[in-house]
Amino acid sequence: MKVLVTGAAGFIGSAFARLAASKGYQIVVVDSLSYAGDRQRLAHIENAITFYNAGIENKPRGEEIFRKEKPDAVVNFAAETHVDRSILDPASFIGPNVAGTLNLMELSMHHGVKKFVHISTDEVYGELPLGGADGALDSDGGFTEADPLRPNSPYSASKASADMFVRAMERTYGFKVAMVRPSNNYGPWQYPEKLIPLTIAKALTDQKIPVYGQGLNVRTWLFVEDCAGAVMAVLEKGVPGEIYNAGGPELKQNIDVVRGILARMGKSEDLIEFVKDRPGHDLKYALNDSKIRRDLGWKPATSFDQGLTRTVDWYLAHKDWLLKKKEETGGFLKSLRERFEKKA
Ligand SMILES: NC(=O)c1ccc[n+]([C@@H]2O[C@H](COP(=O)([O-])OP(=O)(O)OC[C@H]3O[C@@H](n4cnc5c(N)ncnc54)[C@H](O)[C@@H]3O)[C@@H](O)[C@H]2O)c1
Repeated sequence: MKVLVTGAAGFIGSAFARLAASKGYQIVVVDSLSYAGDRQRLAHIENAITFYNAGIENKPRGEEIFRKEKPDAVVNFAAETHVDRSILDPASFIGPNVAGTLNLMELSMHHGVKKFVHISTDEVYGELPLGGADGALDSDGGFTEADPLRPNSPYSASKASADMFVRAMERTYGFKVAMVRPSNNYGPWQYPEKLIPLTIAKALTDQKIPVYGQGLNVRTWLFVEDCAGAVMAVLEKGVPGEIYNAGGPELKQNIDVVRGILARMGKSEDLIEFVKDRPGHDLKYALNDSKIRRDLGWKPATSFDQGLTRTVDWYLAHKDWLLKKKEETGGFLKSLRERFEKKA
């Protein structure tokens, strides 16, 4: 089977492409190599892929690629993904995340693609209240696939818009897409503007580690290889037109995530610096993913403890990559913080 994977030079898309290559799929990658894209993530499987440097919102280019490659399936990871960047420049998320997804669906429909899997996010559901006696963690089961979409950031609004087009394409044309809504991912090869690799990079260089607010925000963390497995399960067994949540195994407060990293690296908690909260910062994300567990037999294989140890070990073994990327992103993160301080 030939599968066209968009955004496969990114963090999760590359993990999926590596898994697909190990299973013998023919892989066509379409990726515009934005600041977050890096072909080094695909270095081990370069022989198994055909790579196109193209933006998914570019329809004529997409037409050429679909005509030439005739993919059987499409898996759409390509997106602008950083919430903070979406706060600074909301409109820049519409092309890749909304128009791009719509283009791909139209191209797939016209070129007879048999299966389309779209990667959404748990953030489309909005936030849950912090609950429970300790003020943070509780077990209310999280969002189900039937919950309404209440996105709070420009990023999640763009993802929810794409999800609405998925629905509209089904109702209007009968073109059905299987959708995955994963929770926060972590693991090797993540760009260090996101919490876990940023914390590791800062700790490595003994710099202060910025933690938004008091670090009480809660997420479930999904190891990236488990997420790739969930997407594969949906590609191979998922029902077109259905949505599948894929959550991480445990709820964690951000501050505990940071402490867990520092403990693994033998670094002091004095490095933690609480900074003014991100505007509109969602308090808590949690997913009820009993549907994918029951219908497709998927569940996360990696506990947070195991996954965090593997992640820290990987970055310590790939310091050059991590610090090079952190260098690229450093100026951006500083100006971002200054802009947030001004707004507050
Ligand atoms: N990282 C997470 O925690 C998480 C959680 C849930 C859902 N998701 C979703 O999973 C997908 C992948 O996320 P990620 O963390 O791997 O992202 P990432 O930022 O690491 O990678 C995104 C990739 O998409 C490419 N890209 C960006 N705009 C493009 C365009 N217009 N055309 C073609 N390629 C383009 C980039 O070059 C990059 O390779 C996204 O759709 C994201 O919304 C991510």
